[in-house]
Amino acid sequence: MKKIAQGAEAIIWLKDNKIIKERIEKKYRHIDIDKRIRQKTTRFEARLLEKAREIIPVPKVLKSCDKAMIIEMEFIEGKKLRDEIDKMSSKERQDIFQRVGKKVAKLHNNNIIHGDLTTSNMLIREKIYFIDFGLGFISQKVEDKAVDLHLLHRALESKHYKHFEELFNAVMEGYKEEIKDFKEIEKRLEKVKKRGRYKNKKPKKQD
Ligand SMILES: Nc1ncnc2c1ncn2[C@@H]1O[C@H](COP(=O)(O)OP(=O)(O)O)[C@@H](O)[C@H]1O
Ligand SMILES: [Mg+2]
Repeated sequence: MKKIAQGAEAIIWLKDNKIIKERIEKKYRHIDIDKRIRQKTTRFEARLLEKAREIIPVPKVLKSCDKAMIIEMEFIEGKKLRDEIDKMSSKERQDIFQRVGKKVAKLHNNNIIHGDLTTSNMLIREKIYFIDFGLGFISQKVEDKAVDLHLLHRALESKHYKHFEELFNAVMEGYKEEIKDFKEIEKRLEKVKKRGRYKNKKPKKQD
């Protein structure tokens, strides 16, 4: 068993060409509450992966166990989109990010909110795979879809500032082609962006 990644939430193991995602303890939470949260997140992520797999490329769930807090899934032997962007031509970037936008729209058309749309949670092999549905949920609300897009906007801004506008425009082009109610979501996205800016400028409240 080889450890290939460790974040705040999980350890990712590679074993016999399969990925095992194991949710790890959060020491600052009460032990029983922590266990319950991790079991629930494991169950939710496995379910969302299965649901999403009917719509877009995601790793196939091979086994999941809430009790042990592990999901065993297909190993996507590809590259993180995060590491490829600077190597691509402008045309390639636009093509890839339009496809990303279409995939997000397909999820949203089915009321799946990813919850953590970053370029570290997208892998490229022959297709683009979305991974890490640990913060995902089901919702038909325009607000939740707009916030999902806004998180991607923020992630691109902070990790890929050089190409940020080009990338997000491409995402929205693809998204528009595929999404059912574009106008409403776009309008809400503008509101969410403004809200974000306002929040950042507001002086911190003194307790
Ligand atoms: N199915 C998979 N195939 C290949 N690599 C994976 C797979 N799942 C996760 N990874 C690798 O592990 C990293 C962390 O996994 P992720 O599910 O995003 O966990 P975290 O919640 O810690 O971000 C990913 O960025 C990716 O590099
Ligand atoms: Mg991740």
